[in-house]
Amino acid sequence: MTQTREAWGSRFGFVLAAAGSAVGLGNIWKFPYIAGENGGAAFIFIYLICIAIIGFPVLIGEILIGRTTQKNPVGAFAALTHSKLWVSIGFMGVIAGFLILSFYSVIGGWTIGYVVETIRGSLSNFNNPEEAGALFGELVGNVGWGLGFHTLFFGLVIGIVIRGVQGGIERSSKIMMPILLSILVILIIRGVTLEGASKGLAFLWVPDWSKITGQAVLIALGHAFFTLSLGMGAMLTYGSYMSKQDNVVSSAALIVFLDTAIAIMAGVAIFTAVFASGLDPAAGPGLIFQTLPAVFSTMPGGVYFSFLFFLLLAIAALTSAISLLEVVVAYFVDEKGWDRKGATLVFGGSIFLLGIPSALSFNLMADMKIFDKTFFDVVDFVASNVLLPFGGLMIAIFVGWIWSRTAVIAAAKEGAETLFESYPWFETLWFIFLKYVAPILIALVLLNSLGIV
Ligand code: TRP
Repeated sequence: MTQTREAWGSRFGFVLAAAGSAVGLGNIWKFPYIAGENGGAAFIFIYLICIAIIGFPVLIGEILIGRTTQKNPVGAFAALTHSKLWVSIGFMGVIAGFLILSFYSVIGGWTIGYVVETIRGSLSNFNNPEEAGALFGELVGNVGWGLGFHTLFFGLVIGIVIRGVQGGIERSSKIMMPILLSILVILIIRGVTLEGASKGLAFLWVPDWSKITGQAVLIALGHAFFTLSLGMGAMLTYGSYMSKQDNVVSSAALIVFLDTAIAIMAGVAIFTAVFASGLDPAAGPGLIFQTLPAVFSTMPGGVYFSFLFFLLLAIAALTSAISLLEVVVAYFVDEKGWDRKGATLVFGGSIFLLGIPSALSFNLMADMKIFDKTFFDVVDFVASNVLLPFGGLMIAIFVGWIWSRTAVIAAAKEGAETLFESYPWFETLWFIFLKYVAPILIALVLLNSLGIV
């Protein structure tokens, strides 16, 4: 007997859940430090262009594949093509979900750990980033701490996904996303009212074009589709629960807007505080766990802001992690006839186990190197730098070249007739970006990751 497939309660619920997937560690951790390292405002400008010409067109395409077929990535490609090649691209998405979630949960665990450490008072007495860095090394170097918070984080992910699309993912996104935005607003107000904040704002708004190298452009390109959760079927899967009455184009625009606005807001909150403390903006990955704790230590009321900031990170990580698990669960539910509960527990459990060596990469297994990389780094590299760009490339090619244009447009028009009628140029422009611009630029990112260009 076929049961009716799960679906979102409303378009708003879908947009919030999809924005929750997009807004993650990439926005609040990675975006500010890559912007910091690559010239601030000038980098942000390039990044906005990449979002517009790659992120937005591919996002619409990925959601459409899901909404048209009402299936997980494997089932979706099978329904549209009957070709083994494309079905295996869908399968690669499921594998990518497996891999990304395994290490994403380790970092997600750290963010919860930092909320707890803030409450315990261990983050309030730093005189400089080095002292904060030393404690960071001690914490992640501690097997029990790393594994404990990885387990806690994963427990939350499973607890949400097991409750289903509407009762779990949608409902939790409707609670967590407004909290996330409110926290950001509070942190921005704190940031801009600090003495010396204007230097941080100048860093974000006054471009330094000398920092824009070919490499910086590639980083902006790569981040544009990482931050929108593209290339592995997460947006496809979320799109598969969407109603055919809803407008995909305007929903995608809203998701892109929220994701971009939140990344920039995080940049404002972080850089005003960092500059006000006279610290270095280009602090790399250590910006969040080393520089910021030192900033909070010197700020009046710092513990409260530290608590809010790490809570913000934990929420951002959690709403992304649930979309990763949902891809895997949807595959086993649609294709293999599992029930949601069993699929969530068994495959969530397996991904949790796969995350253990990643958690141990910062302590017990720190010296076990494969090609000079720890287990964590290998999984991160394969997933983020190889599978995602490759998947993104294939999705752009699929929608632009393989799926017939008439069918794509017909699918996009469902729920968006007026938009296509009022703006006839939109279709032309969208297809140019999908067919030519996105594949070429994504291919460059992929070749660059592989060390070929
Ligand atoms: N977009 C997420 C972030 O900005 C990271 C991410 C990349 C992701 N691909 C994904 C999350 C797929 C969920 C699903 O942090």
